[in-house]
Amino acid sequence: MPVITIQPSGKTISAAEGSRLLDAVIASGEHIDHKCDGKAECGSCHIFIQEGRKSVSKTQRAEYEKLDTLIGVGSKSRLACQVRLGNEDISIELLGFSSGF
Ligand code: FES
Repeated sequence: MPVITIQPSGKTISAAEGSRLLDAVIASGEHIDHKCDGKAECGSCHIFIQEGRKSVSKTQRAEYEKLDTLIGVGSKSRLACQVRLGNEDISIELLGFSSGF
């Protein structure tokens, strides 16, 4: 089971391989916006994956298109609702602002 380190709090949680990153973060008790409930439409679940990016599911078209509309997007950006966990540990950074609508 991959371990997720959540920054800036430093909390660590484990979640099943193949599960949705957004669900794991919500279950951890950390605050993350998810205004469209995981449809890649709002962009409010924008996070950075600092380590372990290659182990998670690849970015699909709908996610790319939404990320293109957001502020502050970089090479580590993902929409947490679109990320499925792989079998390696990852480190993510929750953003202190909502970049979606
Ligand atoms: S919850 Fe809306 S894009 Fe992820």
